[in-house]
Amino acid sequence: MYLFLATLLGLAVSTNAQPATITVDTAHPGREISPMLWGIFFEDINLSADGGLYPELVRNRSFEDSDQPDFWKFSSADGGSTAAIDRRRPLNQSNVHSLCVNVDGKFILQNEGYWGMKIVGGESYKLRLAARAADGFDGPLTARILSAAGTELAAGEISGLAGDWRYYTLELSASGGDSKSALQISGSGRGKLFLDMVSLMPEKTWKNHGLRADLAESLAALHPAFMRFPGGNWIEGDDFDHMYHWKDTIGNIDARKPLWNTWGYNTTQGLGYYEYLQLCEDLGAEPVFGINCGLTLGNKAVPAGQMGPWIEDALDAVEYANGPTNSHWGFLRAAAGHPAPFHLKYLEIGNENGGPAYWERWKLLADALRAKDPEIKLIMTTSLNGYGYPPIPKPDIIDEHYYESPESFMRRATQYDSYNRKGPKIFVGEYAVTEKCGLGNLRAAIGEAAFMTGLERNSDVVIMASYAPLFVNLNHRAWNPDLINFDSSRWYGIPSYYFQQMFSENRGHVTLPVLVNSPLAESPTSKGGIGVGTWNTEAEFKDIKVTAPDGRILFTGDVSRNAGGWKTLGDGDWSVQGGALQQHAQKEFIRAIAGDKSWTDYSLTLKARKLGGREGFLILFHIANEADRTWWNLGGWGNTRDAIECDGTIDSKPGNIATGQWYDLRLVVSGKRVQCYLNGQMIHDVNYESRGQINALYSCASRDGRTGDVIVKVVNANAKPLETELDLTGAKNLTGQGSAIVLTSENPTDENTLFFNDKVLTYM
Ligand code: AHR
Repeated sequence: MYLFLATLLGLAVSTNAQPATITVDTAHPGREISPMLWGIFFEDINLSADGGLYPELVRNRSFEDSDQPDFWKFSSADGGSTAAIDRRRPLNQSNVHSLCVNVDGKFILQNEGYWGMKIVGGESYKLRLAARAADGFDGPLTARILSAAGTELAAGEISGLAGDWRYYTLELSASGGDSKSALQISGSGRGKLFLDMVSLMPEKTWKNHGLRADLAESLAALHPAFMRFPGGNWIEGDDFDHMYHWKDTIGNIDARKPLWNTWGYNTTQGLGYYEYLQLCEDLGAEPVFGINCGLTLGNKAVPAGQMGPWIEDALDAVEYANGPTNSHWGFLRAAAGHPAPFHLKYLEIGNENGGPAYWERWKLLADALRAKDPEIKLIMTTSLNGYGYPPIPKPDIIDEHYYESPESFMRRATQYDSYNRKGPKIFVGEYAVTEKCGLGNLRAAIGEAAFMTGLERNSDVVIMASYAPLFVNLNHRAWNPDLINFDSSRWYGIPSYYFQQMFSENRGHVTLPVLVNSPLAESPTSKGGIGVGTWNTEAEFKDIKVTAPDGRILFTGDVSRNAGGWKTLGDGDWSVQGGALQQHAQKEFIRAIAGDKSWTDYSLTLKARKLGGREGFLILFHIANEADRTWWNLGGWGNTRDAIECDGTIDSKPGNIATGQWYDLRLVVSGKRVQCYLNGQMIHDVNYESRGQINALYSCASRDGRTGDVIVKVVNANAKPLETELDLTGAKNLTGQGSAIVLTSENPTDENTLFFNDKVLTYM
């Protein structure tokens, strides 16, 4: 029998008079657990591909990032040489920039990759570049790998440059190592040198399939049953020119079309459709490929009558993965090195799309795919704003996403108990605690784990689930938190990583009914400062005052002179005008916060006026962390509702904010009670816990069909031990032996870091 415990401090010490109980009915196995349940979602976000899993060491190798040689340092010892981007004779049509060095004396080009290149002594690196020379320059070029301190770790020479584009390669064997190395290319003479596709790759890659070994191993250690790829928002793109099309990502890497990624960088597409499929195979994970459905982020739509190429792309993606080698796309797969099919069985149409525009395109794509290949399981997406699906053509699976607080996830632990068993299956394709989570703390992981017990218990409906996002390069965090954090040479898992691993490594085949008799969770104290904010709206705020219950003034947001005392968050455009704090960016989630994290009871008064845009104002309270979303939302939901939001919406009424009108606002917090007054009239009077108290203990149990082991997963959401009796009713042949795998740490807010990667630890 295995016992699997997720707890903050352990179960052994008694602090309660009445122990909690968990009763597992081992004699009456219930539902089968989907073997696909625990998987991963890889999105090219946070430099997860370039600068991450795809081990190219040179950044901006093809000079396509911009009109400047970004990430290249150029110097000319005697001052005569210059370098600039050139577009006159491109290497190929996807790769229209090259670097032109006007050589007049000595020059040095240096690239430090993604915040330093990891070079290991004794290992080999392949330098490959395209070059052509003109106007009397013919080399040679010297290539050197240098440590951060300038020590030469490897060197080689390239000679015989010609007037047309040619490739040159060098095998560079490193005499020493440094994780902050750089590549240097130098030369001297007179004339012109053109460079493109300057690539430095480690010879050693995971399973010799071209990926960074330690990061691929961090994935393998999760034993994912599937991998959804390559996004996310990334496949939608900011506009029509930036939608993800897999055909741009296959074949010769030099001719793949680099694409600006909505997460803030240029993507080489070195990690392309073929490489993703190969990675899935190497991980033993079912590929789940997500395609663009003709909608951009922000819902700009390809006209339905012009969806032909999207339909073709979807059909061809299946043929590329599965088709015989005598089919057009199957042939290209074989030419890339994989004659056998990849057995793609799951295709997701779009990402977080919903509503009529999506459903129209869903039908076009689903009908075509079903007609060609009825075996492929089609996954429909849902927008974050509402769930629902059209009955025809019925999706096989629906993808739901959740990004919330630990307590919301705990509440959701039972949500699938009452899901329709006759509808499509559910794929929880993205979920993570994103509030009160630090950079990924234990409390966040506990919230997710509580939710996961509900997924496993209902795995007849929820057949797949994956945390998101998977990776972050610590030098480019576009999203927080992320499961696996890395730099050029190291990685660590946040506590959630270890929960994912524990659930995945301890899979049963069939659920066992569990009865949990749990005390209530201690609810975290409500405290924190105040703030004002907007969502796609311009607004101004003045006369901001915070008063303690005894009449003491705790804060006056005096903005008559400057915006002192405020911390602005998000991509806002703040200024002080006529004694008011103004915000002019029409973007989401813009805030200015102030005050003290220790404040509990107070009254906040202010005046607010909408200047333009789609919604109203956000009045923040009990803000303890920068990511907190505890607020009074006036004119939310497209200026239709007025709500208190805190771990979800706890009170909501119709409401609309007029542009140009000053409103008097007063918000009083006392313990967990919040009262809101608009122009003197009370709009809300609610208690934080009105959405229901939450339990301390969460559990699910299963049996391993091969070994007969009983696996009990237990999550203790309290910050102290909870004496708990475990009753295995109906169990015969107990050996009297069991093991406990425990994930814990001293404090709920504990996090792992690069330097202290096992603070929140799993042990047996
Ligand atoms: O996981 C990060 C982002 O969250 C994904 O790109 C998107 O699908 C979701 O909103």
